[in-house]
Amino acid sequence: ATAATALALTATGAFADTMGCDAGEMVIKFSHVTNTDKHPKGIAANLFMERVNAEMDGKACVEVYPNSTLYNDDQVLEAMLQGDVQMAAPSLSKFESFTKVYRIFDLPFMFKNMDAVEEFQSSEVGQNMKEVMVRRGLLGLGFWHNGLKQFSANKPLVMPEDAAGLKFRVQPSDVLVAQMEALDASPQPMAFSEVYGALQTGVVDGQENTWSNVYGQKFFEVQDGTTETNHGVLDYMVVTSVDWWEGLDADTRDQLATIMNEVTAERNAAIAEVDAENRQAVLDAGGVIRELTDEQRQAWVDVMKPVWAQFEADVGADNIAAAQEINA
Ligand code: LMR
Repeated sequence: ATAATALALTATGAFADTMGCDAGEMVIKFSHVTNTDKHPKGIAANLFMERVNAEMDGKACVEVYPNSTLYNDDQVLEAMLQGDVQMAAPSLSKFESFTKVYRIFDLPFMFKNMDAVEEFQSSEVGQNMKEVMVRRGLLGLGFWHNGLKQFSANKPLVMPEDAAGLKFRVQPSDVLVAQMEALDASPQPMAFSEVYGALQTGVVDGQENTWSNVYGQKFFEVQDGTTETNHGVLDYMVVTSVDWWEGLDADTRDQLATIMNEVTAERNAAIAEVDAENRQAVLDAGGVIRELTDEQRQAWVDVMKPVWAQFEADVGADNIAAAQEINA
């Protein structure tokens, strides 16, 4: 891509995060919903783009569309099956209509920390999960970490009873709906791009998300505070269409897979640092963070963990056992 094309494309505002593709290069559109600065997914997607565009120059060219500028997560997978977009990295909560296996990641308090998540995803059980949607036309290329979720609301949340009666935005996942119902709260599934406005106008009272999303979307500005519950995981599956992937020539496919694997390993290894940086950024920007005592946190565990029983058949008792063994 020449500097002139880069400038022209940026001027249109069409895809400000790309350098512009040259004629003859295969264009790979990568659509996602978060910000790029400081965000684990934003950083990883841009690194993938930079590496492909440098190392496969003349052959392939990635265009990243962040911030829901191309698709929301509830549209992107259908668009991928239509061939309108080639890559995306929705959170594991967003594959409900393709597989129920990923529900294990939504179950509250399933993993004690991100090291346990990493170990589970890297295991044979976890790696096999990349292929569970193949018959539905989607192939997983890798898990990308974001981190553990925290609760925030327009009033202080210390004990689980504090959440009762409040409306919480959730991702479109039956597990997350059940989790909020266990708290006697009212779950409201909603697209990520609408959450800030919904919190601001009082359409919902609270939400759950990771530090990078609380910071990146500025939820802390329109919430009383964020409580450090670390109650669940928000990670991603980078996906592509089986048809598109299988249609690539073997060299191109191998090169893309190698770059994807290297970017995945590099950025997943940096997750603790990126997460901590975003937590600190919330504080620096004046956001309130509430920490829980062990006893207070245990009260949340006691109320939310019974949700597992409802979903055991979907996620597999053996998978739950494997995850718990890693925690031990
Ligand atoms: C959400 O909808 O809250 C997240 O899945 C957004 C994201 O991609 O991190």
